[in-house]
Amino acid sequence: MNNDTKVAWNSISAQTGLEARAISKHFVAKSGTIPILKNVDLAVSAGDSVAIMGPSGSGKSTLLNILGTLEPPSSGELSIHGINPFGLPQRELSRFRNQRIGFVFQEAHLLPQCTALENVLIPSLAGFENRNQDNLAHATKLLDRVGLRDRANHRPGELSGGERQRVALARALINTPDLLLADEPTGSLDWKIADEIASLLLDVHKEFQTVLVVATHSESLAERMSERWRLVDGRLEQF
Ligand SMILES: Nc1ncnc2c1ncn2[C@@H]1O[C@H](COP(=O)(O)OP(=O)(O)O)[C@@H](O)[C@H]1O
Ligand SMILES: [Mg+2]
Repeated sequence: MNNDTKVAWNSISAQTGLEARAISKHFVAKSGTIPILKNVDLAVSAGDSVAIMGPSGSGKSTLLNILGTLEPPSSGELSIHGINPFGLPQRELSRFRNQRIGFVFQEAHLLPQCTALENVLIPSLAGFENRNQDNLAHATKLLDRVGLRDRANHRPGELSGGERQRVALARALINTPDLLLADEPTGSLDWKIADEIASLLLDVHKEFQTVLVVATHSESLAERMSERWRLVDGRLEQF
């Protein structure tokens, strides 16, 4: 982490962005406690992007799940735009996640019976008020932005892998999140399509001024991010 992006924890309330401090995570197995993350610190400003690398099993998804508030750390603190999400009551945490965080995974995980447009709309239908006046118009605009204007009424089975990932990206953006998390977003695509999706991901992250954190095995994707970190034995090393 360079000095420009490293922010003192006590100044967090004035910051926009993501800060994780001393995040540790262990799982309890029959054989004993298995430490996965050890005192991980990470600070990312709005508009900046970070690649998390490391071999399979090194804890990339575990870290992204914690940053995405999907599971709490064993210890440590998380702040997203000055808010500690794990301090919120359960329903508020669900609202926070729905409104503030967009997720993209290795597989698009679209609902097969719904059209591309309907899939993009789904996070806007969770019953929380969101920032957009007109979700349908916004979803249509986002599908246009990811290059799928003509595919709005197609179902996932009629789309290619790259197109499905474009739908997943539009869906991640529907509630105008502050934080975009992508877990191996190009891991199932061939290199040319992977490169297109990587460009799109970086472009929309800049346009929407989100924090972007990407777990990836792809050196070429990592090279395009503001910072690169590697998980080694549960600790983050910058390179
Ligand atoms: N719920 C869980 N219970 C026990 N072990 C887990 C759980 N989730 C992940 N792990 C273990 O944590 C380690 C890190 O997994 P993961 O974060 O998925 O790594 P990566 O995404 O880098 O491949 C692995 O050894 C995995 O088996
Ligand atoms: Mg993983």
